[in-house]
Amino acid sequence: MVNNMQLQQTLTIALSKGRIYKETVPLLAQAGIEPLDDPEKSRKLILDTNRPEVKIVILRASDVPTYVEYGAADVGVSGKDVLMEHGGDGVYEPLDLRIAQCKLMVAGAPDFASKSGRKRIATKFVNCARRYFEAKGEQVEIIKLYGSMELAPLVGLADGIVDLVDTGNTLRANGLEPLEHIADISSRLIVNKAAMKVKNAAIKTFVSHMEKAVARLHDKDKVSS
Ligand code: ATP
Ligand code: PRP
Repeated sequence: MVNNMQLQQTLTIALSKGRIYKETVPLLAQAGIEPLDDPEKSRKLILDTNRPEVKIVILRASDVPTYVEYGAADVGVSGKDVLMEHGGDGVYEPLDLRIAQCKLMVAGAPDFASKSGRKRIATKFVNCARRYFEAKGEQVEIIKLYGSMELAPLVGLADGIVDLVDTGNTLRANGLEPLEHIADISSRLIVNKAAMKVKNAAIKTFVSHMEKAVARLHDKDKVSS
């Protein structure tokens, strides 16, 4: 059980709506934290929880590392893809929550590999894509997009894409194939560096409760599968 004395310091948790929120809430519940509003129904961006000292702020997924790095939130949940793209040095990353699991991949039409010359790659992960192709010694032109990457090869904007793949359904539905694996992705608990010192007791307790919650949920999945 969560010890009240240890959680008296305030704690602001940054989450993004949708997948990360849905998958983090059961972990928070196991840690004794329950939001009092549902961001899918409410327009509120700061949610109270059952614990007066704990608040949740609702952000765009790609903004979570920025809020945590600058200390506007003490902790947050962020996809490894977002951290790799943002540059993860500004925050601590103490725990793999093992949620929102997928892969960062190069994808394209079946004839992608046989294309000659410098390929065009559309992606919202421009830094990850640049690093990946540089490491391979392959010169590509990177085109920044903000979503629906799978469309780019279909309309001739790009030869291939760098995007997240889980079931592969989105690629298949658009006649594309997963081609090269860049990284395994899951969501991470991230912590503001100053808060780790100043709010050490609250953050240590929170991280340890989340760690136990991940282990419990993971064991339950193993039993039920
Ligand atoms: P933004 O709003 O900043 O553009 P987004 O729309 O990509 O972000 P989500 O779709 O909620 O936000 O994705 C959040 C995180 O979930 C991603 O950063 C990634 O780590 C993970 N993720 C994305 N797509 C999938 C998927 N199909 N399966 C599993 N995990 C995924
Ligand atoms: C993500 C990602 C892919 C899709 C891959 O999009 O950008 O398009 O999931 O998943 P799949 O392999 O299971 O099809 P998402 O569903 O999050 O929609 P988004 O474009 O709003 O991010």
